[in-house]
Amino acid sequence: MRRSIVLGTGSALPKRRITNEELAQSVDTTDEWIVERTGIRSRYVAAEGETTASLAVGAARRAIEHAGVEATDIDLIVLATATPDQTFPSSATKVQAALGIKDCIAFDVHAVCTGFLYALSVADSMLRSGNAQKALVIGAETFSRILDWEDRATCVLFGDGAGALVLSAEESESGVLATRLHADGRHNDLLFVDGGPSTTGTVGKLRMKGREVFRHAVVNLADVLNEVLVAAGLNTGDIDWVVPHQANARILDATAKKLGLPAEKIVMTVDRHANTSAASVPLAFDTAVKDGRIKRGDVVVLEAMGGGFTWGAAALRY
Ligand code: UT7
Repeated sequence: MRRSIVLGTGSALPKRRITNEELAQSVDTTDEWIVERTGIRSRYVAAEGETTASLAVGAARRAIEHAGVEATDIDLIVLATATPDQTFPSSATKVQAALGIKDCIAFDVHAVCTGFLYALSVADSMLRSGNAQKALVIGAETFSRILDWEDRATCVLFGDGAGALVLSAEESESGVLATRLHADGRHNDLLFVDGGPSTTGTVGKLRMKGREVFRHAVVNLADVLNEVLVAAGLNTGDIDWVVPHQANARILDATAKKLGLPAEKIVMTVDRHANTSAASVPLAFDTAVKDGRIKRGDVVVLEAMGGGFTWGAAALRY
C-alpha cells in the first residue's frame, strides 16, 4: 500500500527562554499559579530577527538531515501557521527559497493549534495520490507577536517554536495510517485574534475564554482520538505513544483518563515549551524521537484542538 512514511523529524526554538518567575516581574501572576493550572514552567520567545519562517527553516534543515535526503528531493512543502512572516506570500515559499529548492509545491495551512494535523492530512493525501513524492510538513509559530503582554490570562500560556517532518510516499506497512479533521466555526468568539488584514488592517492580539475552551477541548479530543483509532483499525492498547497538542497539562491528563490511557504513554513538553500552537505537535514528536522514546515501528497517535474551533488526530506507525 502506498503510504506516507516519516523519514525524519526536526525542531527549532528561539534562543531566549523565559521562566514563570521572570514573567511574574511584569504581570500579576506567580510561578505557583502557572504550574498548578497549566504545567508550564518556561517558554521560548523569538527575538528581533527570529521569525516564523526562520524557525521553520531551522526545523526543516534538521528534519532533512535526520531523514538523510537532500533539500532538492523535496517536492511539497506544507507549513501550518497562524503567525506568518507576511500576510502574503506564504511562509512556505520563504522556507523553499532558504532551502534552495527551485521548484516545488509550497503553501501555508491555517487551522491555528490544529494546523499541523491539517497540514499532515493534506500532505498525506497529496503523497498518496501521486501529486508529490517527498514532503516537508512544518508547524511554526511566533505567538509572542500576537500576545497582549498585559493580559495575564493569556500571555503566560504561549511560546514560540517550530517542528517539521519529512514524509516520503512508499509502498509500506508503516507511515500515516489514518487522519481525521473537524471544524465548528460557531465558536469563533471563544478563541480569536481581534484584528486582521480585511477588518482592522492590523495584526491584532489573541483573546481567549480559557475555561470554555478547556471544556470543549477534553470532549473533542477524546472523540477524535477514538475516531482515528477506528479508522486505522487500532485499539487503545495498540498505542505506544500519544503526542498531543501541548496546551495545558491538565487537558492532557483529563483526555488520557477519558480514554483509559496511562500517563506514561503521553509525550508532555508543555512544561518547557508552553503552547506553541501549530508547532507544538511536531516539536513534541521530534523531542520524543530524539530522546529515544519513540522508536521505529511504534504506533503513535497525534492530536490537537484550537481556534475555530478546529480539532483533529492522526495515527501512524513510525
Ligand atoms: O491551544 C488552544 C487551546 N487552548 C486551550 O486549550 C486553553 C484551555 N484553557 C486552559 O488551559 C485554562 O482554562 C487556563 C489555563 C487558560 C485557565 O485556567 P482555569 O483553571 O480555567 O482558570 P480561570 O480562567 O477559571 O481563572 C481562575 C482565576 C481567575 O480569578 P477569579 O476570577 O477566580 O478571581 C483569573 O483571573 O485565575 C485568575 N488568573 C490568574 N491568576 C494568576 C488567570 N490568569 C492568571 C494568571 N496568574 N496568569
